[in-house]
Amino acid sequence: MKLKNPTNKITDLSLKIDKLRIPQHIAVIMDGNGRWGVNKGLSRSHGHNKGVSVLKNIIKFSKKLGIKVLTVYAFSTENWTRPSEEVNFLLNLFEKVLNKEINELNNEFIKVKFIGDLSPFSENLRNKFIEAENITHHNEQFTLNVCTNYGGRQELVKVAKELARKSISGEIKPDQINEEMFESLLLTSDFQDPDLLIRTSGEKRISNFLLWQLAYSEIYITDVLWPEFDENELLKAIIDYQSRNRRFGGIKSVSNQSLKSSLSFG
Ligand code: FPP
Repeated sequence: MKLKNPTNKITDLSLKIDKLRIPQHIAVIMDGNGRWGVNKGLSRSHGHNKGVSVLKNIIKFSKKLGIKVLTVYAFSTENWTRPSEEVNFLLNLFEKVLNKEINELNNEFIKVKFIGDLSPFSENLRNKFIEAENITHHNEQFTLNVCTNYGGRQELVKVAKELARKSISGEIKPDQINEEMFESLLLTSDFQDPDLLIRTSGEKRISNFLLWQLAYSEIYITDVLWPEFDENELLKAIIDYQSRNRRFGGIKSVSNQSLKSSLSFG
């Protein structure tokens, strides 16, 4: 007789994972919180609350799988155009989550970084972001990048301005500007580009997220709304990623992103 195992689904999918080809950096557009709340006859805010508990599970599971960096889109530069009640709810939620979770994240050896222009946030919230980064900065096992007031185009304009300033001051010559120099001025300069982008809720766009960094990332889109995304859904995304033939514009499949610079465009 077959015994019923409550974790059967996860176990089955885990067996299909190639542990030697786990994506090292996953970026996530956590979409569908609002719709999930409304579909349940609840508020959009319920969806955001549930979204936080899903994120906690996904962080823990990612770390367990050997993923090194998770970069999540928590608040875009465009999210300010939402009704002020929702914007305020989200800002309060960030503060609540940081107060409640930062010690646990630290105990799990997770480094937390905030990526984006933090200047429009209240001084209190900015201090929470800085405090969270300071508490966790020594952790090496896993990094959680939280993109807050982040916009890809804004990031590229920021880099262009810095390069223009350096050129005018004579620190560099315009002809010296190359990809490496450009990359070194991105907000993500400490990390290798994402291997995999996951977007939930079925939308097929990247919504101003990591425009430079996603150039060669594999993209996985699922109809599942973020509040229903679970460990099993992450495994499905990784299995799908592992079935891809990553060529970085070249001909042969390569498993290591660092090889991309040696391959030709195509
Ligand atoms: C997208 O769903 C989700 C957001 C804009 C917010 C996500 C934020 C969290 C889960 C909190 C993370 C907090 C920390 C501190 C890491 P949506 O509202 O766009 O959903 P919709 O497409 O259904 O409207």
